Amino acid sequence: MRIAIDGPAAAGKTTLARSLAEVLGYLFVPTGAMYRAAALARRRGIPLEALDLRVEEGGRILLGGEDVTELLSNPELDDLSSQLAVDSRVRKRLVEVQRRIGAGGDVVMEGRDIGTVVLPDAELKIYLWATEEERARRRHREQGGDFAQILAAIRRRDERDSTRPDSPLRPAPDAVVLDTTGKTPEEVLAQALELVEERRAHLAR
Ligand code: DC
Repeated sequence: MRIAIDGPAAAGKTTLARSLAEVLGYLFVPTGAMYRAAALARRRGIPLEALDLRVEEGGRILLGGEDVTELLSNPELDDLSSQLAVDSRVRKRLVEVQRRIGAGGDVVMEGRDIGTVVLPDAELKIYLWATEEERARRRHREQGGDFAQILAAIRRRDERDSTRPDSPLRPAPDAVVLDTTGKTPEEVLAQALELVEERRAHLAR
């Protein structure tokens, strides 16, 4: 089964996708990390034509053979990746890689345009959502810093990601919207697993 998880910044997509993939024994593909790695490559002066990105077991990201996973959570890359993601040439390049991985079958892929563009035929599409305040609280708990600034940065990024002309963030018409406000990661995982079971039962019919 191909599972697409989309949603705004800091909604818990990576956390859910990773644990869902672990429980199901599926491949975990964090496409946000791929855009972050592309932004890192840009900062290192690597031209798009020479971009060599690979996704390994456990969602680790290799850039030109180097494991850059730990560098990608740097908050500096939040905005840089969102800016770069507006560029259609960059998207085309990354979507190609993502589709190739998705063609393999059992996969949990998270991002902004997975259910709408990358895997429009995914068997299960989840749109993960939480209020802006809740998402900012989660980021603040992880990173510390100034709450108002974190909230403003999330708003700015969501605005850019959902208003760009190419592949804007929006729920696919057939996505199930999961509101995670006030829920723990374990509760969200349990809900997602129920959706997987429902889909399996439906597909087996
Ligand atoms: O999920 P994230 O915060 O790691 O993603 C970083 C940025 O990458 C996000 O602000 C927009 C872009 N992105 C995208 O345009 N399409 C995706 N499928 C995933 C991420």
